Amino acid sequence: MPPIISVSNLSKTYGSGFKALDNINLEIRRGEIFALLGPNGAGKTTLISIICGIANLSRGSVTVGGYDINKDYRGARSLIGLVPQELHTDAFESVWATVSFSRGLFGKPKNPAHIEKVLKDLSLWDKKDAKIVTLSGGMKRRVMIAKALSHEPQILFLDEPTAGVDVELRKGMWEVMRTLQASGVTIILTTHYIEEAEEMADRIGVINKGEIVLVEDKAGLMQKLGKKQLKLHLQSKIDAIPAALAPYNLELSDQGRQLIYNYDTQGERTGITSLLGDLRDAGIRFNDLDTSQSSLEDIFVSLVRAP
Ligand SMILES: Nc1ncnc2c1ncn2[C@@H]1O[C@H](COP(=O)(O)OP(=O)(O)OP(=O)(O)O)[C@@H](O)[C@H]1O
Ligand SMILES: [Mg+2]
Repeated sequence: MPPIISVSNLSKTYGSGFKALDNINLEIRRGEIFALLGPNGAGKTTLISIICGIANLSRGSVTVGGYDINKDYRGARSLIGLVPQELHTDAFESVWATVSFSRGLFGKPKNPAHIEKVLKDLSLWDKKDAKIVTLSGGMKRRVMIAKALSHEPQILFLDEPTAGVDVELRKGMWEVMRTLQASGVTIILTTHYIEEAEEMADRIGVINKGEIVLVEDKAGLMQKLGKKQLKLHLQSKIDAIPAALAPYNLELSDQGRQLIYNYDTQGERTGITSLLGDLRDAGIRFNDLDTSQSSLEDIFVSLVRAP
C-alpha cells in the first residue's frame, strides 16, 4: 500500500534566513500511529505546518493521500485534521457551535450525528452547551481535537496533545487515539513525553536540529539500540575494581557495594558467564543481582546529545 503521506527532500528556510528543516524524507503508513520526538526547536511544528499547508516549503515536495500539497492544497487539506500546539478558539462560543463551525469550514454538509459521536468519544457531550471560556485546560484541548475531527479526516496531527495535561487525562487521550486508530485514522503526534511515544507509537521518528536522525519501528528501535545493565549487589564493600576485571568496564557504585556491567543484547555473547567466573576468581561475592533494559528515554538522549 502506498504511504498516506510522503515527504521528499523537504527543506525549510524561514524569512529570517534560519534553516529549520534540512532535506527531510519521511513516509507515513496508512493507519499507523507515528510519534515525532525531538527537543525544543527541532522543527516538529514546522514540519507539521508544512504538511498541513499552513507554512510554505522552500524545497522538496509533500503528498498527502496522493495529493501534492502545493498543486492540490484543498484535496490534501480535506484529508487532514490538525490539533495545533497553541490552543486558540473562540472563547464565547459553545462547544457544539465551535465544533460544528469547524466542519463547515471544510465545506462539508451538516452532520449532527457525527458531531455528537465526536463529542461523546471525547467525553465532552455533557459540555456541549458550555462556553469554551468556562472549560478547564484539558477540556479545551479535547475541544481542539473535536474540532480537528469534525470533518471526518483520515489523518490526524496532534502537536503535543498532552502537554500540561494531568496523568489521568493523558491516559484518556491515549484511549481516544487508540479508538481513532481502530476506526482507520492515521495519527501523527509530537511529544516531549517519551513514555507517550513508548506507549502509543507504532513507529518513532527522531528529529534534531531540522534533520531526521532516525525512523524506526518502536519495538525494533528498543531492541536494536537497547543496552542492558546487570547490577550486582556485593556481599561486602570493595574499594576498587581488581585489574583482572578491567576488560569488562565495570562501574563501582553505591559506595563500593554495587558493580554495574553494561552489555549489548544484540552482541554475539553478553560476556556475563565469563564475568561471573572472573568475579569468583577475584574473590568478589554478591548476594543479589538484577538486570534492566535501557528505556526509550536513554536512547533518545543519546541520539540528540550534542556531538
Ligand atoms: N516563523 C518563524 N520564523 C523564524 N524562525 C522560526 C519560525 N517558526 C519557527 N522558527 C524556528 O524554527 C526552529 C524550529 O521551530 P519549531 O517550532 O518547528 O520547533 P519544535 O520542534 O516544534 O519545538 P517545540 O518542541 O518547542 O514545539 C526553531 O529554531 C524556531 O525558532
Ligand atoms: Mg512545536
